[in-house]
Amino acid sequence: MSQTKLHFVKTITTHRRLRRNRIKDWIRRLIREHRLSVDDLILPLFIIDGVGIEEPIPSMPGISRYSIDKALEVVYQAADLNIPAVTPFPNISLELKDEKGSEVTNPDNLICRFTSKVKNLNLNIGIITDAALDPFTNHGHDGILRNGIIVNDESVKQIVKGAVIQAQAGADIIAPSDMMDGRIGAIRKALDANGFQNVGIISYAAKYASAFYGPYRQAIGTEGLLQGDKKTYYIDPANTEDAMREAKLDIEEGADMLMVKPGMPYLDIVWRMKSTFHMPVSVYQVSGEYVMIKNITENRFIDENSAMLESLIAFKRAGADNIFTYFALKAARLLYQEDR
Ligand code: PBG
Repeated sequence: MSQTKLHFVKTITTHRRLRRNRIKDWIRRLIREHRLSVDDLILPLFIIDGVGIEEPIPSMPGISRYSIDKALEVVYQAADLNIPAVTPFPNISLELKDEKGSEVTNPDNLICRFTSKVKNLNLNIGIITDAALDPFTNHGHDGILRNGIIVNDESVKQIVKGAVIQAQAGADIIAPSDMMDGRIGAIRKALDANGFQNVGIISYAAKYASAFYGPYRQAIGTEGLLQGDKKTYYIDPANTEDAMREAKLDIEEGADMLMVKPGMPYLDIVWRMKSTFHMPVSVYQVSGEYVMIKNITENRFIDENSAMLESLIAFKRAGADNIFTYFALKAARLLYQEDR
């Protein structure tokens, strides 16, 4: 390239001022590519037995476990804010836990009681339930543990029973978080056989063996129980292709949506999954991600609301259609303020 030509190119470059589109709030709004809306949010709730209980969870500042009556008040708030769905996680007493997580098959268990109560409120809000065994086993694993091994097919049978009774209680979507092989197809088959053709499945397709689940385990009371780790069934954080294979199988087996979990360390997976399969993709901003933002903002190094919204818009930019987040209520309130 000659000297003159180079000079010409440089001149053109200085005329390209990208900052013109950033100069005022109104123009930034005009060129904004992604938006976070209340419609994107799914609220996880921790449920315990009892009445009138709202018990702060030490590992998750700002988050409590609720007895069903109290949890229903939160569901009303969520519905008022137009949050599309809630997803309950139970903290059951130790006496109810066993090797096989049998309580998951009890039609009167905490999740089912909560679900049918929400259903009876007739609100415009969806209920997404998890049929994994970990809240119900005395060893904290998502499947049945035998001789140090999580036995796959027997676990699937148990999870399927849980899914069907959750549907009977009124769950709109089953979101099994256990990563057992074949569970999506088995759940689909059982739901259909029992007349629940309209109950959907969100497959936790890309669930990683992550350190970021720690605070959640205290929330549901499994932190002292878990024997070993979950690496024989969750995906290795070093892998992308394994997640893609899992998602492909889950789609073939009948998944209606795919999930990536955790969220922020796995934005590349969200992007890849969305751009490959063109399916609705959920992302789970897990307890550890929540706590990281909370802790650093409590130390006043970072503005909490800004950090929260930035973390949530990152999911949208990566291609997520909806977000499971403990910030759902807070984010929804903030979004309404910003609308005004
Ligand atoms: C297990 C399950 C996990 C979470 C929800 N269900 C992971 C685990 O405990 O291993 C994590 C949610 C969170 O960290 O917010 N089926």
